[in-house]
Amino acid sequence: MAEKRRVLSGMRPTGKLHLGNYLGALDNWVRLQDEYRCFFFIADWHALTTGYAESREIPENLMEMAADWLGAGLDPERATLFIQSKVPEHAELHVLFSMLTPIAWLERVPTFKEMVEQLGIESPSYGLLGYPVLQAADILVYKANYVPVGVDQVPHIELTREIARRFNHVYGPVFPEPEAKLTEIPKVPGTDGRKMSKSYNNAIYLSDSAEVITAKVKPMMTDPARKRRSDPGNPEVCPVFDLHKIFTPSDDREWCATGCRSAGIGCLDCKDVLLKHLIPALSKIRERREQYIQRPGELQDILEDGSAKARRVAGETMAQVREAMGLR
Ligand code: TRP
Ligand code: SF4
Repeated sequence: MAEKRRVLSGMRPTGKLHLGNYLGALDNWVRLQDEYRCFFFIADWHALTTGYAESREIPENLMEMAADWLGAGLDPERATLFIQSKVPEHAELHVLFSMLTPIAWLERVPTFKEMVEQLGIESPSYGLLGYPVLQAADILVYKANYVPVGVDQVPHIELTREIARRFNHVYGPVFPEPEAKLTEIPKVPGTDGRKMSKSYNNAIYLSDSAEVITAKVKPMMTDPARKRRSDPGNPEVCPVFDLHKIFTPSDDREWCATGCRSAGIGCLDCKDVLLKHLIPALSKIRERREQYIQRPGELQDILEDGSAKARRVAGETMAQVREAMGLR
């Protein structure tokens, strides 16, 4: 039997995940577990590229995120789940790659410029510039074929391919050229109608209880032109309806759309229908994640086992790298 193709992806440990993170990445990872040999990891070193002073927050954020992963259905029996800093081979390969990566390649990576501008970083660090080199090491140390990511990460995958190509050219073929595996991401608005984001304070978290979700959805932004109950509305411009498109089966969804356009229902009726479907969809994830939060030892064991497994694979690649480079 041919070995399965390899998939790898990672997330920085930002803490609890919200619906946008789930629909944009995690849900897709869960579906890849059977078809591919999957490696999913928590990029705790990458978190330091901008947040080096907040290093003490990492362990808790990491555990909250890992609980969300398992709650959402990542399965340690089918995927290797691990922590970047527990696999020092990532750092070793990063150092070697840093020697053959021109600074000019890194300076033109759009995420670098954006980070510097958006965060107002006066003097960007060497580590921030090297962010995508570490990412290339993350990917190539497992010889991953596919990397499920959002479009914003495509330049990093391109750079990974260039580094792999240069390494193979200089030292002989060791690495595949991985491909980004773009997911179709539904529009996930937050409660204020803007894109769901932790920093906008408009997010629904996987850890939110039915009561919390209800309290967030009830005052949620709707079609701004529908000011009164008697005004007809337009579901196509309504953020509540964007969520209906994801969670509500078509018969109920049609009922809401028709009632909205004719002013036959009020927005609270419409939101009740959404809650009827949204709450059960999230409660399974929440209950499962809660079990891991209650038993952190189990979660730690899973990540330690995963990291040990990852280390064995990464170690094999590093042996080939040293051999190819003549570093015996
Ligand atoms: N840069 C990615 C992000 O911000 C996280 C990441 C780090 C990653 N290493 C990776 C993603 C390797 C895919 C593969 O989302
Ligand atoms: Fe939005 Fe529903 Fe209100 Fe229409 S009825 S504006 S779709 S919340």
